[in-house]
Amino acid sequence: MTNTLQDVLNWIDEHLEESLQRVEDFLRIPSVGTDPAHDEDTRRAAQFAGDLLSELDMDTTVHTTPGQPMVVAHDDGPGTGPHILYYGHYDVQPADPLELWDSPPFEPVRVDGEEGPKIVARGAADDKGQLMMFIEAFRAWKAVTGSVPAPVRILLEGEEESGSDSLEPFLHEHAKELESAVCVISDTGMWTPDTPAITTRLRGIIYLQATLHGPSHDLHSGVYGGAVVNPINALTRIVSQLHDDHGRVQIDGFYDDVDVDEALLSEWKGLNFDEAGFLETAGLKTSMGEASHSVLERVWARPSCDINGIWAGYTGPGAKTVIAAHASCKISCRMVPNQDPRVIMDALKAFLEARTPEGCRWEFEEFGCNPGICVATDSPWLQSARQAMNQVFENDAVLIGSGGSLPIVGSFQSILGIDSLLVGFGLDSDRVHSPNEEFSIARFRHGVRSHAAMVEAFGALSS
Ligand code: BES
Ligand code: MN
Ligand code: MN
Repeated sequence: MTNTLQDVLNWIDEHLEESLQRVEDFLRIPSVGTDPAHDEDTRRAAQFAGDLLSELDMDTTVHTTPGQPMVVAHDDGPGTGPHILYYGHYDVQPADPLELWDSPPFEPVRVDGEEGPKIVARGAADDKGQLMMFIEAFRAWKAVTGSVPAPVRILLEGEEESGSDSLEPFLHEHAKELESAVCVISDTGMWTPDTPAITTRLRGIIYLQATLHGPSHDLHSGVYGGAVVNPINALTRIVSQLHDDHGRVQIDGFYDDVDVDEALLSEWKGLNFDEAGFLETAGLKTSMGEASHSVLERVWARPSCDINGIWAGYTGPGAKTVIAAHASCKISCRMVPNQDPRVIMDALKAFLEARTPEGCRWEFEEFGCNPGICVATDSPWLQSARQAMNQVFENDAVLIGSGGSLPIVGSFQSILGIDSLLVGFGLDSDRVHSPNEEFSIARFRHGVRSHAAMVEAFGALSS
């Protein structure tokens, strides 16, 4: 390790409490990007992040877009080589159901956990706590040496959790300004609390809202029951056919283009996945799904289909005897690389259409149609990130897959022509998108230290 890096790592430890307070201030802003009622807060979060970067003397602009603002910052550092783009999202998932939180979601608290103290708040791990790791690493470099050791650009968006609608037009418009050699993202997980990981595969996602319309209006269920179609009966019957009794998805051609990379699967076997531990993070003892594939393979390399919401009819207190005029659901399918999400979206609609009861019609609305992602594993950036993390972790970084989706990685590939380096510090047990989301302070510290080591290594590589 260079003496300078050692000084930077020491600085990070000495100033950790101040870093955590900045993270907590950020977490206090309820930037629920998808909810118009929080537009003001979401803009405030963009400004907060922009101010942090300006404070570091980075050339920072908070751009307005038709959706939420984009924060862009530049720092040429002392380097002359290609830039490294750092991406993060300052929007968070809605916090509801609020009653399931042990403390208010936007009032961060520190609670003791298995890895020591942790911060509990919406966005602690996804993604405010994680994007703050590279910002704090830059701060440490600036404090100790006066500059960041590689030329960097930073892009923070506020629509990741709602589909990143403004991102692609923005990338097209600002392609020149954002030109970089690689994009670094901290929005994924580690392998274990002491084993860092680089994610090389992500699932894509298609999302469809479907409403089945039947009678012209809600009907008395005694006057009409048994004689006319009930959209709730019909919709639940139809969606129950999406899977067979063994958990296999029944949409036509669903598995046709699923690639099976035997080499990758055997590499993953070597990770010795703790299946029981994984199920425990979900409060379960048994898994469900395609029995011919391991749990790890089902999440990382098999497509899936889930109903994410379903609503219709009377759900208030007591009884109301009614046949609802319509019933709705939200269905998403996770895609793996090589599957064409458009083909699967059309096949899903065809599946529903083919089962339309007489007298009914479907109304569809799409919320995203994104492919699974593979990133190159032989890039010098990835190698150099791995080596850099060896300086702060005892264990070598492993290459993993992920069941989650980051559609922006595909946009960076197709619009900017660059691959992403996914170095995240979350864990499955962080309860992202759920009540009581958390991020351990130990992993935050490791993340800041890792980013400090990585940016030094990138500087060496890019000069
Ligand atoms: N950070 C997550 C994605 C993720 C989660 C990656 C866990 C790896 C492990 C991201 O913020 C997210 O939630 N993405 C959405 C994408 C959707 C809104 C288009 C997802 O995966 O549901
Ligand atoms: Mn995220
Ligand atoms: Mn998320």
